[in-house]
Amino acid sequence: MKQKILSILSDHSPEYVTGQALANALNISRQSIWKHIHQLVKEGYPIESIHRKGYRLLSNEEQVTQIALDRLKEKLTWLDQTLFLESVDSTNTYLKHHHHQHQQTLLVADEQTSGRGRLGRVWASAPGQGLWVSLLLRPPIEPSQAAMLTQVAGVAMMKAIKECTGLQVGIKWPNDLLYQDKKLCGILTEMSAELHAVEYVIIGVGVNVNHEDFEPSLKDIATSLKIMTGQAINRMALLYAFLEHFEGLYQAFLIHNDLSHIVEALNTHSTLVGRQINVHHKETVTTCYAMAIDQEGQLLVKHPNGQVEKLYYGEVSVRKV
Ligand code: BTN
Repeated sequence: MKQKILSILSDHSPEYVTGQALANALNISRQSIWKHIHQLVKEGYPIESIHRKGYRLLSNEEQVTQIALDRLKEKLTWLDQTLFLESVDSTNTYLKHHHHQHQQTLLVADEQTSGRGRLGRVWASAPGQGLWVSLLLRPPIEPSQAAMLTQVAGVAMMKAIKECTGLQVGIKWPNDLLYQDKKLCGILTEMSAELHAVEYVIIGVGVNVNHEDFEPSLKDIATSLKIMTGQAINRMALLYAFLEHFEGLYQAFLIHNDLSHIVEALNTHSTLVGRQINVHHKETVTTCYAMAIDQEGQLLVKHPNGQVEKLYYGEVSVRKV
């Protein structure tokens, strides 16, 4: 049966075949189709499954390569340059050092040897598994507005993940995407600026895509799209969906100069809003109620004495009860 499924998928590749069409062709239930596909993926067949679209067999063309990125650039004309590197220390660092004079540049690496997270943390970036991406942009904004771009990228990736996997992830303000309280994606936005003008911004996005496992220290806090769906996910399709959403949301951000166009999504999918959270200020931790995210991307929290504070960035964690 598995061979028959493979043969149908291969005949239709790169198109999708719905579970129902496979079930009809082979005279078995959609549930059995799903089980066979699950088994094929476990055996290493690159089958992508997309909610409401069905299944498709990926070819090598869908691997992340310079050629695949060149093709992507033809569709996304707002990008001036797309670069692929097999291995790099950090995509953010590389763009900062080598491409800071260029216009809008996308860099994707298969592996990062010194991937960086916020607050000087390490971002594990093994080869072949994740999407390690940086975008260099030159938005005509004030330096104080640049942090909002983290949330623009977060909503774009949330939408892309929903489209490619069916998973509705949550946004942990201001820069993480979580599923069932485990981290799937982190965003690191950096910039070079003068007092009143941004020279360039680099938005680095890391997504755990096809990891099957994590090292012991990450097991309890990190997850991947493959672990959550049981399916291998096409990184190029995810990247394309992300960039498509990002373009629209970024343009709207430049028009409004704030996050009014995504404030509803930020609140609806926030993992903090409506909960008691711990706010870490240097050595102190205060328990506050997370009220809402406003259109400047700030988190409004209420202190136990009733005082409302706006957090611009910072370390917050959900309070365990
Ligand atoms: C965080 O959660 O602390 C942010 C993680 C950001 C990781 C991405 S991967 C691509 C880009 N290059 C880096 O070195 N970091 C970002």
